Amino acid sequence: MIVALNNKSNLTKDEFLKYQFELNHVETNHLMILCPSIVHIPLYTESKIKLGAQNVSCTAKGAHTGEIYADQLVSYGVEYCIIGHSERRQDQKESDEEIHEKVERLFEAGITPILCCGETKEEREEGREKEVIGRELDIALNGISEEDKARVIIAYEPIWSIGTGLIPTNDQIIDIIDFIKSKYNCKVLYGGSANDNNIDELKQCACIDGYLLGGLSLKPDNLKVFVNKL
Ligand code: 13P
Repeated sequence: MIVALNNKSNLTKDEFLKYQFELNHVETNHLMILCPSIVHIPLYTESKIKLGAQNVSCTAKGAHTGEIYADQLVSYGVEYCIIGHSERRQDQKESDEEIHEKVERLFEAGITPILCCGETKEEREEGREKEVIGRELDIALNGISEEDKARVIIAYEPIWSIGTGLIPTNDQIIDIIDFIKSKYNCKVLYGGSANDNNIDELKQCACIDGYLLGGLSLKPDNLKVFVNKL
């Protein structure tokens, strides 16, 4: 199983140092990936947990003020990078085409993309979830070699489930993950309000290869319970 931790925009420097210490006490044989705020990446000293980023520039090095390019991430030990998160699609108006460029930059640098996809509440109510997810993935992975495509980790995150405590039924999750796996031979994570209380139910879905955790990533004690139940 893969357990990817998306800290989002949280933790000051001192908070991160304490958090990192606590995280180091989460014992597991599962592949854990920590995606902290970009400013904390140079502070990261643990080796049990792999390092990921929450974003990358779609441009290469050069005159792009404020951007962080993929080789910079590599030089700090980053092996994974979340892209296409719904919060960036909404807040930063990131397009499918930009996300595709980010996939290319990551593979050029040797970083594994954790590519997010998922539908809004309205899109699900209209029965358009597969159309939306199919489009997000097809554009992001257009022209990527078969070898690289197989290395992508896809994260299915229904937008209406992120941070809301609402979880799709297992049948709904299985339906979407089967759909994704029918198109792409990739590992697929589930993300959206997953926690130590609902993991017993979620883990009945054999198709889930791991989890992308937001809120729970910030609670090492609960995270310990969660990974022990996997
Ligand atoms: P929550 O686990 O807080 O719902 O967030 C999920 C998420 O967005 C992870 O990327």
